Amino acid sequence: MESLLERIEAARRAIAATQSADVLEQQRVALLGKNGLLTAALKELGALPDEQRKQRGAQLNALKAGISTMLDERRGALERAATQGRLAREAVDISLPGRGAALGSLHPVVETMDRICAIFERMGYRREEGPEIEDDWHNFEALNFPPHHPARAMHDTFYFAGGELLRTHTSPVQIRAMQGRQPPLRIIAPGRVYRSDSDQTHSPMFHQVEGLMVAEGISFADLKGTLEAFVTAFFGRSFEMRFRPSYFPFTEPSAEVDIRWLDAAGTARWLEVLGCGMVHPAVLQNVGIDAERYTGFAFGLGVERFAMLRYGVDDLRAFFENDVRFLAQFG
Ligand code: DAH
Repeated sequence: MESLLERIEAARRAIAATQSADVLEQQRVALLGKNGLLTAALKELGALPDEQRKQRGAQLNALKAGISTMLDERRGALERAATQGRLAREAVDISLPGRGAALGSLHPVVETMDRICAIFERMGYRREEGPEIEDDWHNFEALNFPPHHPARAMHDTFYFAGGELLRTHTSPVQIRAMQGRQPPLRIIAPGRVYRSDSDQTHSPMFHQVEGLMVAEGISFADLKGTLEAFVTAFFGRSFEMRFRPSYFPFTEPSAEVDIRWLDAAGTARWLEVLGCGMVHPAVLQNVGIDAERYTGFAFGLGVERFAMLRYGVDDLRAFFENDVRFLAQFG
């Protein structure tokens, strides 16, 4: 009994000094487990005479209860210390400034397209959209490109097996806007267009904005005034402009518009920025509008071209690589 008490006293001191739950569990097993010190001592009780057994039994049970309580308290203390430690490690300093959410921004091409449309919307044009998968009639035929017309070859068209195609320009939206409606009409049509062409200045997918106005008495002077007002509003200053005779099947006469551009080095040169013309009478007839009574003008421009000029970007591909370091500059 003497040596048992000594060993239990030593175990108590060890428990009081224990720092880990695993070690504590080993200590519990050594005392109270199946082969533990106290368990063994209790087993030996059966061999003792009655009187002695009662007394010894009471003593051992008291020791066992005391050890149990001590183990429970130590375990509780270790758990509380662990929780305190974790809370301290995970503490949030609520006085620090927040990190803030990173905000996205419109893509410069979308932003430019919206800017172009907004200028025309202020002039009373209505924004319209058409499908990117078109049929030959809307993309070519109704726009006065007969089958085998050489102008079709300039469009590098992507065709689907069923004869449909990816629209090569936004001009088919003119046709959709005029079908089943009568003048006066003013529409502005932004969107994606596709051509099988790719290099530093061509992307197989790019964006155009198409404009159309049809009413009684519309003349080329209206077209010139409108485009001049647009260019001035878009760049925030006026330019010398030049209307160069050109050819499109759906306009007659047709013109390409150049603006007198000063580059960063201060050198002036003519830059082509859009195509335009008076709507061809055959186009009006194709959509059931009386070409004797009504006239109209149309124009089409490349959005990337305007975005490059406005932001001073010299490689078209920057718009399609989606490098956030580039895009974030337009936020
Ligand atoms: N659709 C032409 C193209 O993609 C651009 C164009 C030129 C549109 C003249 C027009 C126009 O409406 O009148 O090259």
